[in-house]
This record gives sequence, C-alpha cells and structure tokens, in this order.
Amino acid sequence: MKITNVYRTDSEMQTQGVASFFAKGYLRPTVYLLSGDLGAGKTVFARGLARAYGYEGAVSSPTFTMINEYHGIGIDIFHMDLYRLESPDELEGIGFWDYVDRGVLIIEWPEAFMEDMPENAIQIRIDRGDTEEERIITIVTGKDE
Ligand SMILES: Nc1ncnc2c1ncn2[C@@H]1O[C@H](COP(=O)(O)OP(=O)(O)OP(=O)(O)O)[C@@H](O)[C@H]1O
Ligand SMILES: [Mg+2]
Repeated sequence: MKITNVYRTDSEMQTQGVASFFAKGYLRPTVYLLSGDLGAGKTVFARGLARAYGYEGAVSSPTFTMINEYHGIGIDIFHMDLYRLESPDELEGIGFWDYVDRGVLIIEWPEAFMEDMPENAIQIRIDRGDTEEERIITIVTGKDE
C-alpha cells in the first residue's frame, strides 16, 4: 500500500523540520528520492534528513562530486546528485549499487532513473507555492502490492 503525506512550509527551517520529523521513523538504511526543480529545496530537505541522523556538518548539492558522504550517529549517509548522469548504465560507474544497504541514501534528481531505484524508496517531491518561500512537499511511502 502506498501512503501519501502532504506538507506546506514557509521557510527553509520548516522544510528541514519536515525532513527531520519524517526521518525519525526510519533509523535503518533507507533510500530517499528527492524530486523538484532547481532551487526547489531538495538540498535543504537533505540537510534536515542528515541532521535527524546526527550529522551536524555542511550539506550541499553534490552536483560535481556526485556523492557526498556524511557520518551520522551510528549510521552513514550517502548524498547523491544524479543530475549529470546520462544513462542508467552510469549508475554502476559511480558505485550506486555499492551504497544501497550500507546506510541512508539521499538522492537528488532521480527522475531519469526511477526504474532502477529500490522499490521501497521514499519518494519526496517539492513544489513551489504562491510565495517566494512557500513549498508543497509530497511524500509517498510504501509500494504497490
Ligand atoms: N520553504 C522553503 N523550503 C526550502 N527552501 C526554501 C524555502 N523557502 C526558500 N527556500 C530557499 O530555496 C533554496 C533551495 O535551495 P536548494 O539548494 O535546497 O534547492 P535544490 O532543489 O537542491 O536545487 P538544485 O536542483 O540546484 O540542487 C534555498 O536558497 C532556500 O533558502
Ligand atoms: Mg540540490
């Protein structure tokens, strides 16, 4: 069964808060897929997730490095950005499969690779609202039976 939760935020802090609140329920290795336009707030959400797992350092888009690795409390976090990948064949090349199950995976720009993503991944979509700081965050958990 799939469950959809929708949140509305008015600031970067609130978006991090939604992420942290949500992550509390998932302390084991979990895959988070973050969709949304440039500047939607994917990295802000990723920062909230990382904070929830106990990582207090910098969290920025791994656009050029492809993967940033953070150490939380008792769990590793792998933050990926697939924006620059051109085909699913390249997932292997960046070591994608080696990271699954080794910790928390946070993936920005997964859209072109949805068929390759683990089926129990949590899907998060961030859309802009009516004001500069409003965001609508839609989170889908579970899978089709
Ligand atoms: N409610 C909000 N939630 C999240 N970010 C917000 C909000 N309101 C304003 N912002 C601003 O929007 C920007 C979001 O930037 P962020 O880097 O997280 O986007 P992104 O989706 O990761 O973009 P990219 O695709 O370039 O990686 C930040 O500058 C943040 O301060
Ligand atoms: Mg980003």
